[in-house]
Amino acid sequence: MAGESYHCSLCGRRVRIQSRADMPVLDPNTGFGICRSCIKNIYEFIEEDEKRNARFNKKNFKYMLGDLLAKNKPHVIKEYLDEFIIMQERAKKILSVAAYNHYKRMKYDLDNRGGDDEIDKSNVIIMGPTGCGKTAMLSHLSKLLDIPFAVTDASSLTEAGFVGADVEVAVRNLYYASGKDIEKTEHGIIYLDEFDKIARKSGANNSITADPGHEGVQQGLLKMLEGSVVEFTERGQRKHPEAPTIKVNTKNILFICGGAFVGIEKIIEKRVKKDDSNIGFGSEIPSKEDTDKKFNELIHQVRPEDLMKYGIIPEIIGRLPVICTLETLDENALLRILTEPKNAPVKQYEKLLAMDNVKLEFEEAALRQVAKMAIERKTGARSLKGIIEDVMLDVMFDIPKSEEPRRVVVTEACIKGEERPQIFPLEENISA
Ligand SMILES: Nc1ncnc2c1ncn2[C@@H]1O[C@H](COP(=O)(O)OP(=O)(O)OP(=O)(O)O)[C@@H](O)[C@H]1O
Ligand SMILES: [Mg+2]
Repeated sequence: MAGESYHCSLCGRRVRIQSRADMPVLDPNTGFGICRSCIKNIYEFIEEDEKRNARFNKKNFKYMLGDLLAKNKPHVIKEYLDEFIIMQERAKKILSVAAYNHYKRMKYDLDNRGGDDEIDKSNVIIMGPTGCGKTAMLSHLSKLLDIPFAVTDASSLTEAGFVGADVEVAVRNLYYASGKDIEKTEHGIIYLDEFDKIARKSGANNSITADPGHEGVQQGLLKMLEGSVVEFTERGQRKHPEAPTIKVNTKNILFICGGAFVGIEKIIEKRVKKDDSNIGFGSEIPSKEDTDKKFNELIHQVRPEDLMKYGIIPEIIGRLPVICTLETLDENALLRILTEPKNAPVKQYEKLLAMDNVKLEFEEAALRQVAKMAIERKTGARSLKGIIEDVMLDVMFDIPKSEEPRRVVVTEACIKGEERPQIFPLEENISA
């Protein structure tokens, strides 16, 4: 048999038999055989299918929920988020409770099938300056809970009938993130990013101009947020009469609407000052720290009426009962973000270079310089990685040329672009 070749009866590929493993299923008499790669495909298909069924068949779902709730109490969720997200204590707490309650509510609903005393859904609105951890926090949350999570840019949505994406796209994105499993989709999390961009332009701050597009999107989102059956086509053709549609009930989908809400602190400040004329922040020109401090103090005081002034329609606000606010990150926070989180940029580069037998060292002043530059760029923690990446480019290009153990030192001047990181020989190998 060895040395002969057979055609796989499934894929038709010719396989030369060197050992039994080449064609695990083979009847030399009839020539019937299935090759290794076909068996692997079949195995993977069955395994995935079984996993999916086990997880999401209705009866099991109830147990899974019980398990999810037992394992992920709010303090456990917060501890997990602490490993990745620096500061934002209050936001981490609010989000942990919101996620826990969301799944508790689902369990209550399952346990009391038919009862009419449902617990209301608590969708979340999350706000804070750019690059302060909104998206990062949510993606870590969904990883911990092992539930599908999809981000949709709300500013790309348009009212039905206009050019652009219908609001259903948000659900379709989640459907894709769930591996096209409707059951899973119906228990996932949808993050509507850039939510502030669909604020009505005629918010109290602006002159009243017609703005049908944005208000239309908000109207379109209403039912979806509350819970309704959303219909969409697989490839997103606009409701073609012939295209088969997929129906997803959004009743148990947690919606989180996030955005920077630039300028909302001014609306809050106006209200707060009116409520309590004693509050004042001094009249001299405020420093950067003062501005940040003031922003952080104000943002946590946001109330639904401020959002209304900002241009979010009251019906939407009513469906987003949980308000989660994030702070501006100062230099010290950025410095911590560089090194402390489990996936901190510095740790990532250390691991990458260790694979090439190189020990990477950042001087303290270098890291502080990175944080300073990030502050100047005004994009929160977002630019940290880019700043380091620029400095590391040449090093990462040159290092793999040799396998000798080495040490790379990054100084403040390197970050400023005044010199290149220095490479020194090392006596011992780096254990990666
Ligand atoms: N508080 C934080 N702790 C740790 N890392 C953070 C924090 N804030 C931001 N980051 C990091 O900065 C990057 C950008 O953050 P993120 O995408 O969460 O910003 P965002 O708040 O969603 O901003 P935007 O409003 O622009 O969408 C992420 O890679 C994240 O890891
Ligand atoms: Mg974001």
